[in-house]
Amino acid sequence: MNVLHLSAECYPVAKAGGLGDVVGALPKYQVGLGLNAMVVMPYYERKFVTTHSFETVFESSSKLGFRSFDFQILKETNNILGFELYLVKIPELLDRPEIYSYPDETEQFVAFQIAVLEWIVASNKQIDVFHCHDHHTGLVPYLIQHSGKFNSLAKTPSVFTIHNGQYQGWMSWEKFYYLPEVEASTGGLLEWKDCINPLAAAIKCCWKYTTVSPSYLLELNYNSNGLEFLFELEGQKGVGILNGIDVEVWNPKTDPMLNHNYQLSTVKSGKEKNKKDLCTEFGLDPNLPLFTFIGRLVVEKGAEMLAELIKEIFLRNQGQVCFMLLGSGDKQIENDLKEIQSYLTNYNCYIGYDETLSHKIYASADFIFMPSRVEPCGLNQLYALRYGTVPIVRSTGGLKDSVIDIIEREGYGIRFDNLDIYEMIHAVERGLNLYQDVKKLNQVRKNMMSLDFSWTKSAEEYYTLYKSLI
Ligand code: ADP
Ligand code: GLC
Repeated sequence: MNVLHLSAECYPVAKAGGLGDVVGALPKYQVGLGLNAMVVMPYYERKFVTTHSFETVFESSSKLGFRSFDFQILKETNNILGFELYLVKIPELLDRPEIYSYPDETEQFVAFQIAVLEWIVASNKQIDVFHCHDHHTGLVPYLIQHSGKFNSLAKTPSVFTIHNGQYQGWMSWEKFYYLPEVEASTGGLLEWKDCINPLAAAIKCCWKYTTVSPSYLLELNYNSNGLEFLFELEGQKGVGILNGIDVEVWNPKTDPMLNHNYQLSTVKSGKEKNKKDLCTEFGLDPNLPLFTFIGRLVVEKGAEMLAELIKEIFLRNQGQVCFMLLGSGDKQIENDLKEIQSYLTNYNCYIGYDETLSHKIYASADFIFMPSRVEPCGLNQLYALRYGTVPIVRSTGGLKDSVIDIIEREGYGIRFDNLDIYEMIHAVERGLNLYQDVKKLNQVRKNMMSLDFSWTKSAEEYYTLYKSLI
């Protein structure tokens, strides 16, 4: 079975968050199940593409409205990721360093989708399932069914995965003319609330959509940034499949980014050694419990609550605790988190994106704090579990589906329900109590490190879904 994943990100080629991790891992596990899983993504001028070998397998030109563009399809030649990787290069549109945030992002991703479909049709490449990820690829299910240009693909099933329904790719109607050979009468399929909405179009036109956790599937009915009614209408097409993790990349026993590798039997000393190095580097006391937050500093992650929470925790515990944050995003949140650093000891905040540092923090921290408002899956808590770091999470989406509170015998995390400062303080203080109870902490680490959150099970669920469509 030939499955083509279309995505804006794929680790280690280009990653901004969990989407990259998923698209860099799921296809590999699918290949292990015997599928021919492939990934096509935009070309970014990044280290991975400049240091690996690619060949041009297709060249052509197309149009974005009145604007013509040339494009190339590049294939990675050594199968280094464990699956076929294709890049779409479009001079002056898809040949830049960043993944997102250019003013012509709409044009970039529409052109990307058109180029992929042109390539598949012109090269007669056999695709059994198009698997599209997030709104950047949301026009594909519509285009293959409703553009005369791609009608040879009209019967090919499309699966669309919603990694985050908050972002929808809205476009004004003026851009309708970008789409090749489509009947104006099918325009309603693209529309939601007076705009072209690629996420809504994907939900309407795909054969099946999936969410990255079962709980998030239910939450979309009442929390999907304006699409609630659409999910009510199309709900029968939805399937919730919890993300997995790449246990080869995320393995404390072999992780090359760690100073000290460890496993379940050596978790205590292994974490202590990593913590000591990290604390020395960032001016923290390694003898105190270490809490972390890693991620995008945005309201969706509850990040605007962190500065106040940290101040309160330090006050109540007379500084007998450490916090190490890693993230970037909203400038106001970044500034607030930087400002408290001027008067708190045992607190450090690294603003920026650093993959190696993230691995070191997962290995060193005792607790990871995730006060997310919305968390379709969340991978941080899954990585933390693998590294023996106790997750403290708000009960929502994938956090709810993957973390069992230590109140249960087999539990390994701490959960709270509301984004209320006192509930959050209480959750952190439950963590501090756990830290004092060495026997219980060891048991909890044992519980979490024995879990299997690898992609094996979920990759099979996707396979079953594909088979049901063919
Ligand atoms: P989201 O995709 O919503 O940002 P996830 O929990 O699914 O959240 O995935 C986040 C991924 O991005 C994880 O691999 C996490 O370690 C990584 N990450 C987030 N922020 C940073 C950062 N500033 N530096 C390094 N890695 C980061
Ligand atoms: C999104 C979600 C996150 C999820 C990731 C991978 O970015 O915000 O919760 O883990 O996609 O599916």
